[in-house]
Amino acid sequence: MRRTFFLIACLVGFSVAAVAQMTPEEKEYQTWMKTASAMVRGLRTNVEGKNAEPAASDTQKLVDLFAKVNGFWAAKDPNAAQVALDVQAGFKEVGTLAAAGNFTEASASIVKTQEKCSGCHDIHREKLPDGSYKFKY
Ligand code: HEC
Repeated sequence: MRRTFFLIACLVGFSVAAVAQMTPEEKEYQTWMKTASAMVRGLRTNVEGKNAEPAASDTQKLVDLFAKVNGFWAAKDPNAAQVALDVQAGFKEVGTLAAAGNFTEASASIVKTQEKCSGCHDIHREKLPDGSYKFKY
């Protein structure tokens, strides 16, 4: 019983520490990431459903979002900033393909673009034992 309490106290303490470590800027960044992954899911649905206009609007939002991601990294790590630009270019391509009705190619382009996300995650993201993520610089 006591051991269980101790374990719970450790887990709570750990997650509080993980959240507390984030700066306001990082917290905002985290909401961009969550938004990005929700937007990509929506984009995929629209491309699969051959909805050209909504798909193009999704890609525009992603292009805007990754401009902010690029800005976040610009002064911190030029490589990460470049990955953000590559991801942005990927979504631009998806938008062009979807707008032209090339949904099969647009689908393939989403997959390719998503693979680029890990180019930054591999360097700057660390998974914590509780399944959440933290920044690594
Ligand atoms: C230039 C760097 C960079 C790029 C590009 C990038 N990410 Fe991230 N991402 C991060 C970092 C750093 C974290 C860890 C901090 C955090 O949790 O937000 C992260 C975290 C995440 C998370 C976890 C959010 C959470 O805490 O629950 C998701 C989901 C995510 N990214 C999705 C994406 C997707 C999808 C793409 C591509 C379309 C992408 N990211 C591209 C840097 C990047």
